[in-house]
Amino acid sequence: DGPFVVAVDGPAGSGKSSVSKAAAAKLGFAFLDTGAAYRALTWFATQRGIDVTDAGAVIDAIADFDYRIDTEPGRQRVFVGETDVTGAIRDPEVSARVSAVARIAEVRLRLNEIFRGILTGDGHDGIVAEGRDITTVVAPDAPARILLTASPEVRAARRAGELDGHSVAEVAAQLHARDHADLQVVDFMTAADGVTTVDSTDLNFDETVDAVIDVIKAAR
Ligand code: C5P
Repeated sequence: DGPFVVAVDGPAGSGKSSVSKAAAAKLGFAFLDTGAAYRALTWFATQRGIDVTDAGAVIDAIADFDYRIDTEPGRQRVFVGETDVTGAIRDPEVSARVSAVARIAEVRLRLNEIFRGILTGDGHDGIVAEGRDITTVVAPDAPARILLTASPEVRAARRAGELDGHSVAEVAAQLHARDHADLQVVDFMTAADGVTTVDSTDLNFDETVDAVIDVIKAAR
């Protein structure tokens, strides 16, 4: 038997990254942030001077894309080759371009292969993977599948709190634009069959982590 897989999807600013990481740490599970891989590929292509709307060029770049991550929840560094891109992939420039990379079907296929290798790999009893299509495409057979949502207002306010010097209105507009683009590719706003919705709008961070852990425990 492979590791126990927990799949978590949701929109930008739903808190799924920090909540999933905290839940993984509490359970002694590994953690996989799939959005970080899309971001790292976006960073890598941009670094090479590639226009991310040029699908052919992005697909060609994957051949040299040496993506390395640490799945230990407390040590989330992301590397492309020898370069630590942990901070760079959160840059608003990357956020603004990543949807163009994520809509390339061949990119999704190739990254999904990497993700499935990590999920089924050894070295962990369980793993929490979060993104947009984990419950539906990457790991539809996972025993625990969760859609983490929050109202658009709450998501924008939380994200604005993370990004210094940006107004809530500005952040709300960026989140809306990215969600709109991403929704053309995969529906992460509706829970698929068998997926449990956790709405964090009226929950604080710890309450959200507990709600997610309750779903995981019920599935174990
Ligand atoms: O989760 P995060 O906001 O870091 O994801 C960055 C981007 O990566 C998303 O806006 C989306 O375009 C893409 N993504 C995706 N499928 C996933 C995870 C992320 O398309 N499973």
